[in-house]
Amino acid sequence: MIVHVLTLFPGLFDGFLRESIVRIAQDKGALAVDLIDFRRYAKDRHGTVDDRPFGGGPGMLLKPEPIFEAVETLEAQRGPMHRVLLTPAGDLLTQATAERLAGLPELLLLCGRYEGFDERIRLGISWEEISIGEYVLSGGEVPAMVIIDAIARLQPGVLGDEESALRESFREGLLDFPQFTRPRVFRGMSVPGVLLSGNHAEIEAWRRQEAARRTQERSGAAPEEQQDR
Ligand code: ADE
Repeated sequence: MIVHVLTLFPGLFDGFLRESIVRIAQDKGALAVDLIDFRRYAKDRHGTVDDRPFGGGPGMLLKPEPIFEAVETLEAQRGPMHRVLLTPAGDLLTQATAERLAGLPELLLLCGRYEGFDERIRLGISWEEISIGEYVLSGGEVPAMVIIDAIARLQPGVLGDEESALRESFREGLLDFPQFTRPRVFRGMSVPGVLLSGNHAEIEAWRRQEAARRTQERSGAAPEEQQDR
């Protein structure tokens, strides 16, 4: 899949794209990331991409022209594609959203900066608006990286077979079960005996139960409403 990112700070993505699963996804040909600095579509020779709001008020807004030009130029080359605007006012990102986006052949992410956008960027181009959480960041670059990470690991062949199979079975919709590695006892804390038993059916049942318990505990239910603690 190809992810095009419209950003004023392509350098922010350097380390992120060079390491770990996102790197593996690119090396395997499952993911390509195309960083587009939309300052190059600015109308003046100073590369102006923002301006003061009409009616007054603090801060600067992204101007519409460079973004319209960037989107139109890209889509003239590649064809229309699904577009995502990263904004704290968007719908909260979920794993279901990541799965839907991961299935697209091509995706465009627009990273905002400064205090916001000229509203015509919303009115004149259709976007899915996504937020990564109820807090305000200084731009959409970190949210774009969050989305790229979430979709990179969902591309076929990126994670090992075992991990993908696990994900697709009973872990679907549940938080992870607790896991342990060596040593068997660390500072008085022992690895649960069932995990050392070699009985795979019992291990799977235990993991299923622990994942369900953890999901329920973290779902926000008050402790007294929780059962089987
Ligand atoms: N831009 C600034 N804050 C953001 C957030 N929480 N999610 C998405 N984009 C943003």
